Amino acid sequence: PASTARLPQGHLSVGGVSLAELADRFGTPAYVLDEDEIRARCRTYRAAFPQADVVYAAKAFLSRAMVRWIEEEGLGLDVCSAGELELAHAAGFPPERMVLHGNAKSPRDIELALRVGVGRIVVDSPSEIARIAALTGPAGRQKVMVRVVPGVSAGGHEKIRTGTDGQKFGLSLTDGSAQHAVARVLGQPQLELTGLHCHIGSQITDVKPYLVAVRRMVGLMARIKESHGVTLPELDLGGGHAVAYRPGEPALDPTALARRLYAELAASCAAAGLPVPRLLIEPGRAIAAPAGVALYRVLAVKHTGPTLFVAVDGGMSDNPRPALYGARYAPRPIGRSTTAEPVPATVVGRHCEAGDVIASDVPLPGDVRPGDLVAVPVAGAYQASMASAYNLVGRPPVVAVHRGTARLLIRRETQDDLSRRDVGA
Ligand code: LLP
Repeated sequence: PASTARLPQGHLSVGGVSLAELADRFGTPAYVLDEDEIRARCRTYRAAFPQADVVYAAKAFLSRAMVRWIEEEGLGLDVCSAGELELAHAAGFPPERMVLHGNAKSPRDIELALRVGVGRIVVDSPSEIARIAALTGPAGRQKVMVRVVPGVSAGGHEKIRTGTDGQKFGLSLTDGSAQHAVARVLGQPQLELTGLHCHIGSQITDVKPYLVAVRRMVGLMARIKESHGVTLPELDLGGGHAVAYRPGEPALDPTALARRLYAELAASCAAAGLPVPRLLIEPGRAIAAPAGVALYRVLAVKHTGPTLFVAVDGGMSDNPRPALYGARYAPRPIGRSTTAEPVPATVVGRHCEAGDVIASDVPLPGDVRPGDLVAVPVAGAYQASMASAYNLVGRPPVVAVHRGTARLLIRRETQDDLSRRDVGA
């Protein structure tokens, strides 16, 4: 999946730049992003979904350069906070191509969205309907969608499943709160309901749950037409498309997904007597994850009982995914040729807790030693964006590579950055 996966062990490079050189130049830990791979993934999505709006989910990874790539590749942008919105806006992203999400939008989130003029706001609770309408003011008209929980269970881990009742996102189809919200939005002259939204989960490997969601969403659109006489022109199916974190794992292919989604949509709409709505999709991980590699340097190697622990200079502060979701990675040694036989090792971080594991039971050369470099592929999504400064370890830099050259996108968080926030006596 990652461009690194095709290269021989020992001397890996990304975008024409050796990872070992990058580690020397920018230090470790560091995230490396392959700009061409990100752009190629955007193009694959646009080619697979020519009649849809492909809206990149900024939560996966965001920086000013990323905003520019997404803009130039013709995608939209899903933002879920004033912070993401502000960054994208300052970087020149067209606001009408933005979609604002959030189950608990702050007054600042809504005000900023209205002020810059985001394309759509996705309503996630009844209480925000009147608030958005009031802030829009009598002269304005804001496009909104209603986020529906279609009752479909999908996703790679319990914590990233959002398609059924009993989790915090969206408005339920089964208890009628989605229908109520739709009626309330239609009753607000300041709001224009362009369609319905659902996001059923993340790291979904199978097309079927999306097809069930399409049937249920079209069913709701038909009932809305019946009771309100309104034909909604848009349907947003969220993101959630899985990537392979380790060689051989399944990924969700956008082209196959598009073909089956449109077939299901055509059939469901024909049966319901509705025109086919314009689709929006919101991939985050599938755009960014395979384009990134995390680089670490080994600090310590030891046996504890039967396990060989290889401790690196990062860990759960730059990648909380193994601890949060039991995510599995395939770390690879780089930068040094060796003929040593591979042995099973557990790659751990430097943080003060036992759950700080990057990958358990993975093969590393038997002579692995401090100073060695380890690359963790498929690190472009939900790592930099979810990084913390736990144990006051500063967050790593993000480096972009493009046509054989590397440049810094986000600098390393320094001790000074960390100390400066501490303003108490
Ligand atoms: N749209 C909405 C409304 C979302 O909430 C999300 C992700 C996406 C799109 C993009 O989903 P993607 O295509 O990236 O799966 N931190 C977790 C993933 C959380 C996803 C949250 N919402 C992880 O590292 O696996």
